[in-house]
Amino acid sequence: MIDPTARCPKWLIDRMIESGGSISFYRYMDLVLNDPKNGFYSTGRLNIGKDGDFCTSPSLGNDFASLLAIQIVDWLLDLETSEIESERFSLVEIGPGEGTLSRDLIMAIHEIAPALISKIELVLVELNLGMRKRQEKVVNNLLGINYRWSNIEDLISRPVTGVVIANEVLDAFPVERLVFSDNNVFRQGLSLKKINDEYLLEFVDLKPTYKIMKFLEDASSLLKIEFPPKDICNRWVTEWHCDIPSWFENLSKILLNGSLLVVDYAMESKRYYSAMRNDGTLIAYKNQEAKSNVLHDAGLCDLTAHLCIESTVNYALSNGWKFIGETRQGQALLALGLSKFLYSLQNKNSNDLSAALNQRESLLRLVDPMGLGEFRWLAFQKENNDDLILSSRFLEEPIN
Ligand SMILES: C[S@@+](CC[C@H](N)C(=O)[O-])C[C@H]1O[C@@H](n2cnc3c(N)ncnc32)[C@H](O)[C@@H]1O
Repeated sequence: MIDPTARCPKWLIDRMIESGGSISFYRYMDLVLNDPKNGFYSTGRLNIGKDGDFCTSPSLGNDFASLLAIQIVDWLLDLETSEIESERFSLVEIGPGEGTLSRDLIMAIHEIAPALISKIELVLVELNLGMRKRQEKVVNNLLGINYRWSNIEDLISRPVTGVVIANEVLDAFPVERLVFSDNNVFRQGLSLKKINDEYLLEFVDLKPTYKIMKFLEDASSLLKIEFPPKDICNRWVTEWHCDIPSWFENLSKILLNGSLLVVDYAMESKRYYSAMRNDGTLIAYKNQEAKSNVLHDAGLCDLTAHLCIESTVNYALSNGWKFIGETRQGQALLALGLSKFLYSLQNKNSNDLSAALNQRESLLRLVDPMGLGEFRWLAFQKENNDDLILSSRFLEEPIN
């Protein structure tokens, strides 16, 4: 059935016609987010924050960065006291959005370990020019800090030692959508349907690629994920984050020594690939509203899909990484001392009451199990040095 709200914008009609009339869902997601002239990210149309399209942890204030910086400093000090020789440590942020996390991390590291800051360079890796321009406005105010923007290819040619952070980035990577129908699997695609002089987007079934079939085979043989799960409805839909394996491979080449922290929407394969989740995890965001219709307002809203934890860890392990561990954001931030932050608010003087209440609300949002607290922190270490032990405070039991 055609969705009358799935209007196809002129620029996308042109792209689809150039591609012969239909494209895969993967290509659609890539275009609506990253097309250099029209994508939601590349044009810098995306606004992150309480007054924007959606909130991320760093957009709620600097407490997220202050807590995360405690873990980053631990890792950097472990590197500094190890046998590894490095004149400089890099803090690499992939997909920095508004640039606030990068800025607030540097400020927090400055406060926690001032002696370390002169050894640190900040490297921002941003795919989209529109977002980079926004980051420049925030990061250019950092004085006395070495910082630069780079891309993965340049970093591969001049690898660094340090810590890589990817907060809510992998969920924005384009995904393949798979449709299971009558004992067959299809690659979801989109084509154009002209109704009353208007072009609408329509889902179509495409032949699965070799890579999709290989993913299904590997998921079942290596990870024991049942595809499709029992008792699914006809036309059960799920996703595959097909770009994550090569992302881990490339990242392992940019880092000589150090760690990688991925923070994102994620869930175990049992929940991800369950019969009940019959339309996958994809969601569109705009103006703080989440919508399941991912064809509406193409190029004018964000699209995001959860990560499958086992697949993500497996891709990392196969591409040069050791797994340090994984936990929910709520646990991680409590382990890093969030309750102390909450407690210290009681001692703020009463003139700051409204600021204190706002900060309290933000801290609680960061650990809310129905929201950001449910995000997963997945940490990895570059697999090349068995002597280097990176201490991971965020995985410890929280103490009050
Ligand atoms: C949802 S935003 C996350 C922003 C930020 N990390 C935060 O937590 O507020 C995704 C960001 O990743 C960028 N991005 C998307 N794909 C990317 C890629 N392959 N490499 C680098 N950046 C990417 C987007 O342009 C955007 O800046």
